[in-house]
Amino acid sequence: MKLDNHSYIAGIGYYVPKKILTNFDLEKMVETSDEWITTRTGIKTRHIAEDNETSSMLGTEAAKKALLNANLKPEDIDFTIVATITPDMIFPSTAALISNNLGIHGKAVLDIEAACTGFIYGLSIADQFIKTGKYKNILVIAAETLSKITDWKDRNTCVLFGDGSGAAVVSVSKSESKIIDFYLGGDGAYKDLLYIEAGGSLHPASEETVRNRMHYMKMKGNETFKVAVTKMSECAKEILERNNIKQDEISLLIAHQANERIIRAVQKSLGLPDEKVYINLDKYGNTSAASIPIALAEAVEKKLINRGDLILLVAFGGGLTWGSMLIKW
Ligand code: ACO
Repeated sequence: MKLDNHSYIAGIGYYVPKKILTNFDLEKMVETSDEWITTRTGIKTRHIAEDNETSSMLGTEAAKKALLNANLKPEDIDFTIVATITPDMIFPSTAALISNNLGIHGKAVLDIEAACTGFIYGLSIADQFIKTGKYKNILVIAAETLSKITDWKDRNTCVLFGDGSGAAVVSVSKSESKIIDFYLGGDGAYKDLLYIEAGGSLHPASEETVRNRMHYMKMKGNETFKVAVTKMSECAKEILERNNIKQDEISLLIAHQANERIIRAVQKSLGLPDEKVYINLDKYGNTSAASIPIALAEAVEKKLINRGDLILLVAFGGGLTWGSMLIKW
C-alpha cells in the first residue's frame, strides 16, 4: 500500500439542461412571488430537465467535459462514482449507466446517496483509493434531476430546486496540487427533516402512495436551515484548525448552493470577505449533490480558481449529512 500518494482534481466539467424556469413562471404555478423567493433564498432561475432527460444523461455530459479537461480517455478510468438522490432507476446504479454511456467497461462502478453532501463524499472515497495506490484515475460525478421528485403543488419546496450535473477526474498527483483533507459527518436522528417516504421497502409504490403524493420530497425548511448553518460552520472551522490554516489563506469558499442566507451565515462565522465566496444559486437553485461541482467547474471556467489556490468546500444535505474538504488546486 502506497499511503504517501496524494490525489488531485485533474479535470472538471458541468452540464445543465437547456430549459429555464423563472420565479415569474413559478408565480403562475403556486401562490408565491419573485420577491419572496429572492429575499428568502437568493434564487432567480433554475434549469429543468425534459421529461425524457435523466440524471445519467446529464451526468454523462459533465463527465465527458471533465475527461476532456483532464486530457484523459474513458479507458484511463479505473472507477466511476456517482452521487445522486435521483438515480435513473433504483438499480442498476447510475454509475453503471454513465460508464456504459462513456464506453467504460469492466471497471468498478458505485452510487453513493448522501444527498447534497454527495460530491464531497465521492471525492473523499476517490482520494482514499488513490492514496492506497489501488487506482490512478477515478471519475466522480454528481447528477441530479430533482424536478422529477419535486411536488410542483408544494410552494414550500418547489421554488428551491433545479437540475444539473458536475464531474471531476481525481488522479494521482505529481505536483503540489492535492486534496489536503476532508471531514465527513452524518446523523440519522435528523431523518425527518428531509425525505421521500415512498418507493423503498418502507412504502413500496402503490396506488395509495401515488394518491398521497408520497413519492415527492418533503422538507422541514426552517429546522433544516438551522442545522445547516451550525454543521457547515462547525465542519469548515474544524478542517481549517486541524490543518493549521488561517481563514485569510483561503482563496475561495464553495458552499452547497441551497440558500444564500445559509451561505452568508457560514461566511460570517468564518469571517470571509464577499469576494472569497462563490455564489451561483441565483441561476441554478439547489441542485443537491451537483451544486458544488457545478460551482467549482464554473469558477475554474471563469478563472477565479488557479493552480496553487486554497479552496474550501462545505456542504450539508438530507440524512442529514455534512462535510468539508480542503483542496490545494
Ligand atoms: N412563497 C411564498 N410564501 C412561502 C413560500 C413560497 N414559495 N414557501 C413558504 N412560504 C411561507 C410559509 O408558508 C410561511 O408562512 P406562514 O408564516 O404563514 O406559516 C412563511 O413563508 C415563512 O416560512 P418559513 O419556512 O419560516 O421560511 P424560511 O425563512 O425558513 O425560508 C426556506 C424557507 C427557504 C425553505 C428556508 O427555510 C431554507 O432554505 N431552508 C433550508 C432548506 C435547504 O437548504 N435544504 C437543503 C437540503 S436539500 C437536499 O438535501 C436535497
